[in-house]
Formats: sequence, structure tokens, C-alpha cells
Amino acid sequence: MARLPDQPVARVGRAPMGTGRERSGPAERKSLAPRSATITVMIRAAFAAAKNLKRDFGEVENLQVSEKGPGDFVSHADVKAERTLRAELARTRPEYGFLGEEGGETRGDGRNRWIVDPIDGTTNFLHGVPHFAISIGLEREGEIIAGVIYQPISDELFWAEKGNGAYVDTPTARSRRLRVSGRKDPARALVATGIPHLGKGGLDAYLPKLENVAKRTAGIRRWGAASLDFAFVAAGRYDAFFEVGLAPWDVAAGILMVREAGGVVSDIAGKPYELGGPTILASNFGMHQPMIELLA
Ligand code: IPD
Repeated sequence: MARLPDQPVARVGRAPMGTGRERSGPAERKSLAPRSATITVMIRAAFAAAKNLKRDFGEVENLQVSEKGPGDFVSHADVKAERTLRAELARTRPEYGFLGEEGGETRGDGRNRWIVDPIDGTTNFLHGVPHFAISIGLEREGEIIAGVIYQPISDELFWAEKGNGAYVDTPTARSRRLRVSGRKDPARALVATGIPHLGKGGLDAYLPKLENVAKRTAGIRRWGAASLDFAFVAAGRYDAFFEVGLAPWDVAAGILMVREAGGVVSDIAGKPYELGGPTILASNFGMHQPMIELLA
């Protein structure tokens, strides 16, 4: 099995920290799959941020009844989570650059860059819907080489490394290798998407595509956290996912997850996807061409 250059390989679940600080994340869960030191750093950062996010999510439920709602509180939680991620990642990789949804870009060594969404699925979080994730991608020389997506509420941890596969830890399964589904008939396929909403353009161009897909497939899901849409394609739960107008932090970890699970990522016309490009399509191999046709 190919390994990333940053050895040694560690087998860790919940990190034995040595810093004395309490971590969130799954209880004593040793990985059965090889993880590089970099992936271990990413997972530890995600668990550290998740600890506060879980507490803040509980508070959001209380704030729903206030007149103002939890808006400001959630913005603060988002910024706080990004700060935690930034600090944790910088602790062992101080030279790496950082691009976050909340704090923007910090230039680093020009070679490595973390691409981070502290809460992907902010609208869900804001409304007390337990479907959101921390997403961390690592870009090296323009290519995503590692990704972690952690759903703190369901406690599902997805991770992938270039050339080393994609895996998931759940409360009941450890280091399960991710594989995209084998379905290639649109009539049997479950397709995820994101629908442009207030403040996002492109609804008029999007709707006929959605109509086409809806008429030809077994079902559409719009769950509101793109990183998890990718992870679910990688896990074979969805057969395809498409969206317009996603930002680099929404997709960085997810595109690697799908590719390492044997899936395909392109733009909706089937051309190579450039990070931050206007459209994206992720699917298993058999559904890729049918989706391109439905989205044309
Ligand atoms: C959003 C989610 C959502 C997608 C939006 C994104 P955010 O990210 O991923 O699923 O439809 O386009 O902006 O704002 O919650 O980090």
C-alpha cells in the first residue's frame, strides 16, 4: 500500500495527548488502518474543535426561543472553532499556510496549505439540525493530499490520504474502507445536491438541471452540508452529488474522499474540476456519464 512521505505511520484514534487537555471524539478507538502523522494531526485538531461545537450546538437549542435567535452565537461558535483548528494545526505544522471560511487566508511556506471549514452546514447548526461537519483538507503543491471530515453529533470520522484510501470510523465500526456504490442505472440512484438559496445566484440555471435529475433518478437529497455529501458518496450511500457555487473549504477534503473511494470528481460538464470552480459533480464511476447528460 502506498504511503505518504510524512512517516512515521501512527495508529491512533482518540489521541493520547500528553498535554493534559481533554479532547472530544470517539472514546479509545485505535485505527486499524495506517494513518500518517499528518492525518493524525488533522484528526486531533478536528476532535479539539468538536468538543466546543457539541456544547455550542446544545446551547443553540436553548436560543431558538429567543427573539433574536442564535445567529450571533453561531457566528461566534464558527469563528471560535476555526481559531481552535488553526492553533491545533499550527502547533505541529507552523510553516503551513491556512485558508479558512471565517478568517480568510494566511500565507505559509508556499507549498502546503490547510483548507478548513469549521462548521460546514452552518444553517443546519443554526436551526438545531444535527447534520454538520468540520472539514479539513491539506493541499500540497496545488493538489489535495489529505482530508478529514468529522460529524461530531453522529460521531462519524471520515479520512482519506492520497494513494492510501478513504476510511470511516463510526461508533460501531473502526477504520472501514470506503468504497463508492456500484449502481449505474439512474433509475436506481440516490443523488445529493445543494439548491441555491437567498444570497446565492444561479437558481434559474440550476432548476432545469434539478428537474431533469429528479425525473430520472430514484431520489434527491438536500441535507445542507456539502462535505458530508461527498463523504456519503464515498461511502456508497449516495450515488452522485452535484452543486453550483461551492467554495474551496466546502470541497477540499470531500473531493479526495470520493476519489480515494474509487469515485470520480469533475465539473458538471465532465471537465477537470479546479478548486473553487463554479460547478462540481462527484459520483461513482458508472453514474458519472449519465449525470453529465442529465445536467447538460
Ligand atoms: C454550505 C453547505 C451547503 C451548501 C452551501 C455551502 P457552509 O456551507 O455546504 O450544503 O449547499 O453551498 O455554502 O456555509 O455551511 O459552510
